[in-house]
Amino acid sequence: MSGLEFRVPGDKSIGHRALIVAALGPAPVRITGLPDAADVRSTARGLAAAGVGVDWPAGRTAALVTPPGAWRDGAEVDAGNSGTTVRLLTGLFAGLGLEAVLDGDDSLRRRPMDRVVYPLQAMGARIDYRGEPERLPVHLAPRATGHLRVLRYRSRIASAQVKSALVLAALTAGVEFEMWEPGRSRDHTERLLRHVGVPIEFGPEGEGAHLLLSARARERLVARDLAVPGDPSSAAFLLAAAVLAGRTISVDGLLLNDTRTAFLEALELFGADVEIEPTGDVGGEPVGRVTAGPGPAPLSGIDIGPAGMPALIDEIPVLAVLAARAVGRTEIRGAGELRVKESDRLAALAHNLGALGVEVDELPGGLVITGRPDNAPAGAVAAHGDHRIAMAFGALGMAPGADVRVDDPAIVAVSYPGFWDDLARLRAGQGVGA
Ligand code: S3P
Repeated sequence: MSGLEFRVPGDKSIGHRALIVAALGPAPVRITGLPDAADVRSTARGLAAAGVGVDWPAGRTAALVTPPGAWRDGAEVDAGNSGTTVRLLTGLFAGLGLEAVLDGDDSLRRRPMDRVVYPLQAMGARIDYRGEPERLPVHLAPRATGHLRVLRYRSRIASAQVKSALVLAALTAGVEFEMWEPGRSRDHTERLLRHVGVPIEFGPEGEGAHLLLSARARERLVARDLAVPGDPSSAAFLLAAAVLAGRTISVDGLLLNDTRTAFLEALELFGADVEIEPTGDVGGEPVGRVTAGPGPAPLSGIDIGPAGMPALIDEIPVLAVLAARAVGRTEIRGAGELRVKESDRLAALAHNLGALGVEVDELPGGLVITGRPDNAPAGAVAAHGDHRIAMAFGALGMAPGADVRVDDPAIVAVSYPGFWDDLARLRAGQGVGA
């Protein structure tokens, strides 16, 4: 199977981590394939405020990162809309013992910080809330490097942001760190650190995952140029749009890490044709080519339960719009974490699907959507300041007969600035790049 060729921006999660890990090495590092996305730019700016040299020209995907001779106290970081920036940099700066204030936009100020701050405080970090309790802005008090204690942490939630914040804190403070998670969250920090020589053990354990970072692991970190593969969470919107539009497309150079690809299995369960061809490894991550298009029969509803949720968490919005065009019920459960993303995604999805005339019930931790393959959704929807809500409804607008207007299309710049151009190319039957 092959189709129109597309490329998507570099992986946002890996982009943040590549910039941070590059800043910790003994020499400058060149990074290629970065997504020119607002969120990753926020991490670059936050690092620069603490003394890192980040040469990343506007509109480019390659950057040169020069580690600071001495990290700088007093950074005031505006993380914008980026949860990954603010959580990872809180961990990093706490480990380095830097004084800093971290803040974000109104959406980020509503999101919980306690999940990162409590365990960091348990390690000995001095962090206080400058506004509402457990919310941004946070202030980190200055301390000498090496002040943090060993932590063995059993987390209640499977969150790569929490895990990565703690790993970065322990790594830079030079203390051992051990963690258990109830599910397998994305493991890019671990893979990237191993790729640059850091001794770290990680992997599945029972239903969840376990990680062990040895003390003074940072001494082993080498400067190595880094390449960021294509973002499967961005590709999900394009692949779904293709399936809804009745076209087959291929996306090359895509990250195929199994903590991120559950969407492809769900797409296949809906009844789409999906082909995955692994092509190799980039920076310790598997990559390949994915082709997807409509299957022989109309889509039909599926059940998505809590077990696979961490590997699907960012793709629920796009699965919800596919459900609107699938025969029968789609039930999504165990997705309560979606209420504390860039928007309350369960409420936003229920509101928008309802506004388009789709039958939808909102559950405390999920959604039940009853779809019809001849659904021709028409109307205006609200992005709720959330790039993934905007893109999901953009994809739904590609269904035959649909007329979906998103109120804030520019919000896609958070992760995928070229999204609307790519949809236009898909509509016109033209691929890109390849
Ligand atoms: C991310 C982790 C996930 C994900 C977010 C990016 C990361 O959040 O939803 O878009 O890069 O670590 P949680 O770690 O809070 O689940």
